[in-house]
Amino acid sequence: MALYSEKVMDHFRNPRNVGSIENADGIGEVGNCKCGDIMKMYLKIDGDIVTDVKFETFGCGSAIASSSMATELIKGKPIHEVMKLTNKAVTEALDGLPAHKLHCSVLAEEAIQSALQDYCTKNNLDYNSL
Ligand code: FES
Repeated sequence: MALYSEKVMDHFRNPRNVGSIENADGIGEVGNCKCGDIMKMYLKIDGDIVTDVKFETFGCGSAIASSSMATELIKGKPIHEVMKLTNKAVTEALDGLPAHKLHCSVLAEEAIQSALQDYCTKNNLDYNSL
């Protein structure tokens, strides 16, 4: 069996939503100190909908595929759903990741949460009441 699913390879080779958003409503940057990979997420939020999302990932193929899939999963979704996105959901949408690569999908979950926290800080909102 191949180490990586076709979906992982597809999102690694043709990542969706790469780049940055000027005047983003929320920006989150996280890293993993063991591997040194860094992920940055930009959110555009209108009302309670994440209308646009872009990412910049300086990391491994699984991190790029996870970022790409995560952006696809949250684009157009209400904030309360976006908050609940887990690395497990990202991994499942990618048809799995090898065990030693699961932490790459955790970065995607953390980057989105960090961007939402930034959105809250900028707008004087309570993250826990989103
Ligand atoms: Fe660290 Fe993939 S090896 S994010």
